[in-house]
Amino acid sequence: MFQRFRRTRLNKNLRALVRETSVSVDDFIYPLFVRSGKNIKTEVSSMPGVFQMSIDVAIKECQELKSLGIFSIILFGIPDVKDSVGSDALCEHGIIASAVRAIKEAHPDMFVVTDLCFCEYTDHGHCGIIDEVKETVINDATLELSGEQALVHAKAGADMIAPSGMMDGIITTLRDALDKNGYENLPIMSYSTKFASGYYGPFRDVAESTPSFGDRSTYQMDPANRREAINESIADEAQGADILMVKPALAYLDIVREIKDNTSLPMAVYNVSGEYAMLKHAGNAGLIDYDRVMMETMIGFKRAGADIIISYHAKEVAKLLKK
Ligand code: PBG
Ligand code: ZN
Repeated sequence: MFQRFRRTRLNKNLRALVRETSVSVDDFIYPLFVRSGKNIKTEVSSMPGVFQMSIDVAIKECQELKSLGIFSIILFGIPDVKDSVGSDALCEHGIIASAVRAIKEAHPDMFVVTDLCFCEYTDHGHCGIIDEVKETVINDATLELSGEQALVHAKAGADMIAPSGMMDGIITTLRDALDKNGYENLPIMSYSTKFASGYYGPFRDVAESTPSFGDRSTYQMDPANRREAINESIADEAQGADILMVKPALAYLDIVREIKDNTSLPMAVYNVSGEYAMLKHAGNAGLIDYDRVMMETMIGFKRAGADIIISYHAKEVAKLLKK
């Protein structure tokens, strides 16, 4: 038997031919934060390069995204008024419904995903309706209102609904509500495995959604649990989710791979605010080669099994890929 000691060194062309993983601009969904007003573009200090925008500015932003080849966004709304049940999220004239309608009218070719949750809309900052005595989220009351919220998004013209609150039974509830109202073909991307994470810190500055008491650990997952993490996603597949997700991404790539090997559904990762902020601030401080580390990170997501990457880096990645 011939046993060669050396592996053949591949030249550049051959390395490209045998490369197993690639990143494409088609893989990305770019998050946008919308609020009311005109001509508003406010940078958030914890996330340089990420802005709260009024709808008119978001429409211009979509033009830029399209010129970079990015045709998918996920929308988060920041309402003028927050209350205990998140009424703005249930209103046809609320910030999200208004944003979806305006963006789809200006850009029918933009794929508009809506984040479905209550934490940006409630005065207590939790992801659902609160039992004020026990200071916990009431799962089933939240489900009912989530169905209403999904219909508001659907009627406004959303192309995909992405429930992020981690309520039990949310996929069945939304699928039912959508099907009964003629939206049988509106897909659901579930934040199916979402950990209680410190990496969401900067997002809560942008979305102004830091809980006023307690934390989200009663409904988000324990970072220490692998089997539970897999089960949560597989349960959402059984309920009819179209796309599964792991969030955050970086510290959970083992979970991405394991779910991928146990589902036939497409998978998304959410490369969250804290992950973006770490790279951004390290790059700005001259500590890392930002572009290189960013692309290495994106390849890591794809190699772990992600089909879709939701990332604040999307525009920068697109620019680099164009070069
Ligand atoms: C709302 C939601 C959050 C994120 C996405 N949707 C925040 C949270 O759960 O606190 C986090 C995204 C990010 O950190 O970039 N439930
Ligand atoms: Zn939430």
